[in-house]
Amino acid sequence: MSIDVSDLAALRVERVRAIAGRLRELRGPLLPILHAVQHELGHVDPADVPVIADVLNIAVAEVHGVVTFYRDFRREPGGRATVRICRAEACQAVGAEALAAHATRRLGVGFGETTSDRAISLDEVFCLGNCALGPAVQVDGTLHGRVSPARLDALLGEVATA
Ligand code: FES
Repeated sequence: MSIDVSDLAALRVERVRAIAGRLRELRGPLLPILHAVQHELGHVDPADVPVIADVLNIAVAEVHGVVTFYRDFRREPGGRATVRICRAEACQAVGAEALAAHATRRLGVGFGETTSDRAISLDEVFCLGNCALGPAVQVDGTLHGRVSPARLDALLGEVATA
């Protein structure tokens, strides 16, 4: 039995509606709902926006504005691995910008994007709590410190072949 794309879309709407319904009573529920959707469904799809707006009884533009304002929200499915590079001040002072430029060149994508083979999503982050050991990089939740371009290449190679 095959599952139709429209069935999947309907299933997603149902899940987004359930998440929003579960959290709608929180004070300031929009951000927690968006985080929960991303956590549980991988990203905040543009099609999720009107569903959330409907549950919260607010304007679609308001939800859209928040999703696009915060860099945290991915608006398309992510890659199989996620690489996050810290670009905050302490890491910048020890070469994070050069590392960031190296990563975008090496992967051929910008921050917030995913490689065309969907292997790796590249994200920027502003402090990973590892400031004394910058430049800091997180690969699928594992923190790495003092990451040089060569070390980053090795980490990217490991996740690309995982
Ligand atoms: S500034 Fe990069 S980990 Fe804190």
